Amino acid sequence: MTRGLLGLVASGCGGVESWFRTDLAEPARQRGWRLAITLTPTVVPWFAEANELEKLQALTDLEIRWNPRLPSQPKPYPTPDAFIFAPASANSVAKLALGIGDNQALTALNEAIGVENCKVVVMPQASEDKRRHPMWQSHVTTLTNAGVVVTDEAPGRLLDLLDT
Ligand SMILES: Cc1cc2nc3c(=O)[nH]c(=O)nc-3n(C[C@H](O)[C@H](O)[C@H](O)COP(=O)(O)O)c2cc1C
Repeated sequence: MTRGLLGLVASGCGGVESWFRTDLAEPARQRGWRLAITLTPTVVPWFAEANELEKLQALTDLEIRWNPRLPSQPKPYPTPDAFIFAPASANSVAKLALGIGDNQALTALNEAIGVENCKVVVMPQASEDKRRHPMWQSHVTTLTNAGVVVTDEAPGRLLDLLDT
């Protein structure tokens, strides 16, 4: 069964290179999603060092993105049917809430927020030190009010949230 196109986005959070494929990307494939994977520039070398980029790429016919396209290049695929941003760093949560799209991952997410029938699930991975920042709760509230599902669920539960 093909469920549709699922945008998977990862940012620079500790341990991501060890679980993103096994706990999120592979289970998503098994559920029938076609994957559109986008990484923040920070996390690309983390996946590369762990020899994960090729394994991730093997899960999808769509090229994993982190660089923006050139003006002469068409969009490689339409806006996905749903997005899971996990893990989302404190840095990327703040930028997403403010609408900042200074990399391809944030650009894709920013464009998906508010699109009818496009569910966006964000799983922040941020320590208490980061969540103590005076703007943290405001950022989470902004995203939630825009219809984004901000959750502290474990990666293995995130796919279920797309069905509710
Ligand atoms: C080894 C390592 C682990 C990190 N883990 C986290 C984390 O779990 N959560 C977080 O918010 N930032 C974490 N950071 C800091 C982010 O990587 C940093 O803020 C970076 O600018 C995030 O960029 P991005 O959001 O574009 O991926 C970590 C940094 C390093 C070097």
